[in-house]
Amino acid sequence: MSSYSNPLDDPAADPFEVAARAASDIARLTGVPQHDIALTLGSGWGKAADLLGETTTTIPATEVTGFSRPALAGHVGSLRSILTPGGTRVLVIGARTHYYEGHGVRRVVHSVRTAAATGAKTMVLTNGAGGIKETWTPGTPVLISDHINLTADSPLEGATFIDLTDLYSSRLRDLARTIDPSLDEGVYCQFRGPHYETPAEVQMAKTIGGHIVGMSTALEAIAAREAGMEVLGFSLITNLAAGIQTTPLSHQEVLEAGQAAEPVISDLLARVIGTL
Ligand code: HPA
Repeated sequence: MSSYSNPLDDPAADPFEVAARAASDIARLTGVPQHDIALTLGSGWGKAADLLGETTTTIPATEVTGFSRPALAGHVGSLRSILTPGGTRVLVIGARTHYYEGHGVRRVVHSVRTAAATGAKTMVLTNGAGGIKETWTPGTPVLISDHINLTADSPLEGATFIDLTDLYSSRLRDLARTIDPSLDEGVYCQFRGPHYETPAEVQMAKTIGGHIVGMSTALEAIAAREAGMEVLGFSLITNLAAGIQTTPLSHQEVLEAGQAAEPVISDLLARVIGTL
C-alpha cells in the first residue's frame, strides 16, 4: 500500500497509469465504458451541465483514483455521466484542482488525462475569469482563442515537444458561433493566483496580448492537447480585471455574477455541446 494519500503525489508514479485507473473507476461506477466529450465546470458554470441531458450517475470525486477534494465553496466536487438527447456521453467534471492549491501540476491536469483515458475526444474547459475588454460586462461568456501561460510551469514532463498551434480549436469555435454569433473571443492569461492580479499585472497581460485573466485552464488545455483531444474553451467574465474596474474584486462578486449568468450560459453550453 502506498504511503501517499494521493497516488499522484508519489514522484515515482506514472500519471498516465493513474489516469487509466481513474478511468476504470469511472467506467465501473457509472456503468458507462466510454465517454465521448468531457466538460470541466469552472466558477459560475456549476449548473451549466443541467440542460445537457439525462444525468445517469453522479460520483463524488473522492471515489475516483487521484482526485482531490475541491478547495473552494462554489467548486462542486463530483463527476457526472450525462447522456445527451443525441446519444452522446458527456463526462462532467465538477472537481477542478487549481494550480494555486500547491499540489503540483500532475494533480491539476489529472482530470483531463482521466477524461482522455475514458475515451473522450473533445475537452470543453470552462472558467470564471476577469475581463480586460471594457465592452465585456459581468456575465458575458466568451470563447478562448488562445492562451498565455504565466505559471512558468507545464504538465509535460521531459523532452515532450507538443505543438500548441490552434490549441483552442478554430473548428469548435466556429461551431459555437453558429449557435451564438454574438460570442466574442479572447486570449486567456493563466496567472498562478490565488490572489487576484494587481492593476499593473493586468496592464502587462493586456500589453502582451491578453484579454482574459484567470487561474486555471491553460495547463489543462496543454495536457488535453498532449492527450490528443480537441479543446473548446469558454470563460465567463465574472468581473472586469483589477484596475479595469475601479472597485475592489471579491470572490463573492465572482460567485454572484456566475449565478446571475447561469440560465444563459447553461442554455449556450447545452446547445453548443449538442452540435459537437
Ligand atoms: N482574475 C483572476 N481570476 C479570476 C478573476 C480575475 O479577475 N475573476 C474570476 N476569476
